[in-house]
Order: sequence, then structure tokens, then C-alpha cells
Amino acid sequence: MAEAMKGLKRTHRCTEVSKADVGSTVTVMGWVQKRRNLGSLIFVDLRDRSGLLQIIFDEKEVGTAGFEKAGTLRSEFVIAVVGEVQLREGAVNESMKTGEIEIRAKELRILSEAETPPFPIEENSQTKEELRLKYRYLDLRRPDLQRNLMLRSQVTTLVRNFLSEEGFLEIETPVLIKSTPEGARDYLVPSRVHPGHFYALPQSPQLFKQLLMCSGYDRYFQIAKCFRDEDLRADRQPEFTQIDMELSFVDVDDVIDVNERLLAYVFKEALGVEVPLPIPRMTWQEAMDRFGSDKPDLRFGMELKDVSQMVKDCGFGVFTSALEAGGSVRAINAKGQGGMPRKKIDALVEFAKGYGAKGLAYLAIHEDGSYKCSFAKFMKPEELDALVKALEGEPGDLLLFAADKNKVVWDVLGALRIELARQMDLLKKDDYRFLWVTEFPLLEWSEEDQRFVAMHHPFTMMMEEDMDKLETDPGAVRAKAYDIVLNGTELGGGSVRIFQDEIQSRMFDILGFTKERAQEQFGFLLNAFKYGVPPHAGLAFGLDRLIMLMAGCDSIREVIAFPKVKDASCLMTEAPGTVDEAQLKELCLKCVLPEE
Ligand code: AMO
Ligand code: AMP
Repeated sequence: MAEAMKGLKRTHRCTEVSKADVGSTVTVMGWVQKRRNLGSLIFVDLRDRSGLLQIIFDEKEVGTAGFEKAGTLRSEFVIAVVGEVQLREGAVNESMKTGEIEIRAKELRILSEAETPPFPIEENSQTKEELRLKYRYLDLRRPDLQRNLMLRSQVTTLVRNFLSEEGFLEIETPVLIKSTPEGARDYLVPSRVHPGHFYALPQSPQLFKQLLMCSGYDRYFQIAKCFRDEDLRADRQPEFTQIDMELSFVDVDDVIDVNERLLAYVFKEALGVEVPLPIPRMTWQEAMDRFGSDKPDLRFGMELKDVSQMVKDCGFGVFTSALEAGGSVRAINAKGQGGMPRKKIDALVEFAKGYGAKGLAYLAIHEDGSYKCSFAKFMKPEELDALVKALEGEPGDLLLFAADKNKVVWDVLGALRIELARQMDLLKKDDYRFLWVTEFPLLEWSEEDQRFVAMHHPFTMMMEEDMDKLETDPGAVRAKAYDIVLNGTELGGGSVRIFQDEIQSRMFDILGFTKERAQEQFGFLLNAFKYGVPPHAGLAFGLDRLIMLMAGCDSIREVIAFPKVKDASCLMTEAPGTVDEAQLKELCLKCVLPEE
């Protein structure tokens, strides 16, 4: 096999050959997509990462031995072909980039043979994802995945170019670290040298990038691998990649400015899409009130309306009791869905229950203007008219109402809004609507821990005008935190950091950290701050999510070369696996498995 490439040098990728090369001799290499025998001619579609190219074998040209060899070619054989470029003798194939030409083979070399793959290597595969992931190296040969990974490579190159032009330094931070406070569960790595001690894999480079600011590297970035042991979803993987950055001597607007120019640059260069700047901004409160979500999808309307005031004295107990308990009654208008059959409405109610709703009330407006309403018997006709008016209801519309605590109402209607838009086919993948969500609450009440926890992380700065409320009304304090949202997905987020000792201590107090515990967990950062720390702020994008949206995919698995599945395992390598007793012993570890 050492001779396989002897005397051969690839001159072109398949689709780099063009009409301009007609008459010249080229050497191409790749995989056999398919072979067709047409009597005295054999046609082969040759594939490489650039695309397909038709090869034609004619016995008169390749000789008898060559022709016979061509007859043995099967899908996925790896071959090299030397031949002359010619205009197609047969029909031009409009759907193929090289559809006007073909290579008339002079020489064929089989570089390796292939067994029949377990599924066809083709675009828009119908094969089940589990099988594709088991043979990911074959799956990765498919043109759609190849395009996604090429886009990913292009985008990281663009990001590097842009940020280095803007004066950012690319600096690597360690992967074996002490636990970071990003809020998810850590992946742990046992230490052999320090029995009973563990490294954590970083959930993000957060603390290290802040230390770099203390060290004077005033603009840092990194394409950073992050690890979080959390429940997986379509847009979450246990290991994923961030475009991570931190800047010194800046405030919110500076971070937003450089990042929206970065996005505009990347979308323009990679997709030819203009992102109008500035990207609109919305406070967290407005996002929740209007869209029931801190990551609103702005591709369609269907905004939430608070009708609490209108129904507070009505006779419908579901509404009034929610209000008495401090909650609200809100509604959306699903335009043109008034004719929705009962069964489908029931399915929406079940959907809403999945988001914590106790039920869902509805009012459909018939074409003749009359109503069909699930709570009509509790309401006066004029009360119903007022609701319809408030929601700008017209004949043919469907109004959906949820009554509960604010958080439940937001979750339910926010999710319903997206579900209805999906059913109504309002979500166009190439319509890119960016949004900054700002002024997030600093703290979030945790029912589980019965205390406030940081919504972003404990180093996030509060808005100066809310600082007084930190001890008296912590839930009302807004943070200098911002998320960048694209079409209902949180692409990235960041904040201005606390860099003053006194404020950080107050924050730790609120979060229930003792001085000792803070010192134990983040002592190195707090100490670093004692030696001269610049004001700083930063942000991290989820690279996988960015590429997923740019590529028009529904899952980040489609833009990660070797992703994991829902239970965090890798179907190809079967990681995680067990290890030798000897390896455990060396680490002073013993497994105590739970009983079945
Ligand atoms: P945050 O936790 O918001 O912020 O993460 C930033 C972005 O990373 C992406 N992301 C994920 N992508 C795939 N799989 C996951 N499991 C996953 N988790 C997060 C999201 C998210 O918006 N250190 C801070 C940033 C900062 O303050 O500068 C941080 O990590 O797109
Ligand atoms: P019930 O009193 O539980 O029979 O509910 C009466 C109607 O109100 C039913 O159509 C329920 O689906 C609806 N409903 C119940 N709880 C809620 C709620 N929290 N918000 C909106 N509608 C509700």
C-alpha cells in the first residue's frame, strides 16, 4: 500500500474542475457515489467534500484491464482517476455543479475497497439518527453534514479574523480546573497524585478570563470547549463550544457594539445576509410581558396581553382566584385559528399543561361574529366583547387565556405562541431576527434551596440605580446582564462584572456564601482583585447554536462532528465506559453502584 500514491498527485477537488479545463488532463480522487454500466461505457459519480464529478470509462481509452477494473467498482470504493476533461456527451445535468462536463478516464487506481455501508451516503438522509451516529464517520460523508462542518470552520476563521482586527488576543485557559460557578453540574476528573481530590472540567472559562483582565490582557477571546453535566436537549450538549470573550475598561454598550458588528460581519461573509445594526434591544421585563419568554422569537407577532384588570371582577373563579393569589390572566390571539377543531384545541390544552398550566380557556370568534367560549357561562356578554376588543379579535380568530402565577402564565403562553407559529408555518429559517435582551433580574428565588441564587453568576454587576435594593428587595434588582437572541434561541450571554470588593461581599451575603466558602471556592479571584483590577465585562456565544441557526438545522448535533445523544453517551465509541480495576486502584477509587 506504500505504493498507493506513487506517481499520482491530485490536481483538483471534484467540483474544482470546470468547463475552462476542457481538453486538459486532471487527476481526481475520492469515493464512488455510484456506478452505472451502459454497454460499452461505464459511468461513475465520484464524490469528495466539494461535491460530485462524472467519470466516463471507455474501453478504447482505459484499455481492457482498466475497463474491467472499473466494472468492479462499488459504492464507497476510494479511487484515483487520471483523465481528460470533456464536455458531456450525454445530457447536461443542471442540478450538478459539474453537470456540463465529465472526465474521460485514462487511468484508474483503486486506493481502497469498501464494504456495503449500513445506510446510503446521501443528502437529506431518511436513516434513523441512532444508526447514523453509530457510524458517524460514514454519516459525516453526507453532503449536508460536510457543508455544516465547512460552514463551522469558515465561521471560526471569520471570528478569529474579526476579533484580532479589533485588538483581541486569543488565549487558552486550562481544562483541568477547580469548579466554576456556572450553575450546572460539573464533570469531575480524579487526581492520581492527590488521592481523593478532583479536577472539574470548565463549564466556561469565566474565572480565568476575569483573571486575564487583572493581568492586563484587556481584550481576550477563545474558542473554548465547555462541559456541563445537565439534561440534554436539541440545543444542549454535555460538551459544547463557546466563542468566549472579555474586555477591560468597558460598559454594557461597548460589549454590545463589538458583538453586533461581529455578528453582522459573520452573517455577511458566510451567508451574504445583512444584519441591520443596531440590533434592537428589549428589557427582560418587556420580553416577558410581550412574549412570555426571555428569548423572544420576533419572526411573528401573537403577543401576550395582560387582561387581569378586565376580568378581576368577573364571575369566572379560575380567573379571579389566580388574581387573588397574586397572579395574572393573560391571553394571545391566534389569528385565523377560530375554526380549529375541538380535538386540536384539546391537544393545545394538554400542551399547555406540559408547561405547568392547570388549564387553558379559549374563545373562538365565528365568521358570523358569534363566540364559542369555554367560560361563556361565567361571563356577561359585554365582558366577553371587551376581551375580544382588547385582543383585537376578529371573526375567525382564536383567543387563548391562561390564569396563574406570572411565571406559569409566561411559560405557558410563551410556549404556546411558538407551538402555534410552528403549526401555522410562520417560522422561516432564513429570516434572521436578532434581539438583545437586557436588564435581567440579578437574582432568582430558588424554591428548592429556599434562597436567592444568581440568575447569571455571582460576579454579575447590578444596575447602579438598583444597588440600594440589594438587601431590602433583592428580587427587584436588575443586573447589567445581556443575552443575544436569534429567532427564539439564546445565542449568547454575558454581563458587566463586579470588580469592587465591597459589592462582591454584599452579593455573597445575599447568595448565602460565608466568607470562608467564598474564599475557598473563588479565593484566587478575590485575591487577584486586591492587586489592581480594571472594570471589565464580557460575553460568550454558543458556537454550536450559532452554526445550527446559520445552517438552518433543528439540532446542534447536526453541526458537531461527534455529538453525544440524550443520555450523554457516544453511540460510536460507546463512551462512557468502565475501566480496569487497576486504573481505579491507582486513583484510590471504588465504585458503589446503586442497587437496581
Ligand atoms: P452562559 O452560561 O449563558 O454564559 O453560556 C453562554 C452560551 O453558551 C451556550 N450554551 C450551550 N450550548 C450548547 N450546549 C450547552 N449545554 C450550552 N450551555 C450554554 C449558549 C449560551 O448562551 N461565562 C458566561 C458568559 C459570560 O458571562 O461572559 C457563560 O458561560 O448559547
Ligand atoms: P375547571 O373549573 O377546572 O373545570 O376549568 C374551567 C375551564 O377553565 C376549563 O376550560 C379549563 O381548561 C379552564 N382553565 C382551568 N384552569 C385554567 C387556568 N389556570 N387558566 C386558564 N384556563 C383555565
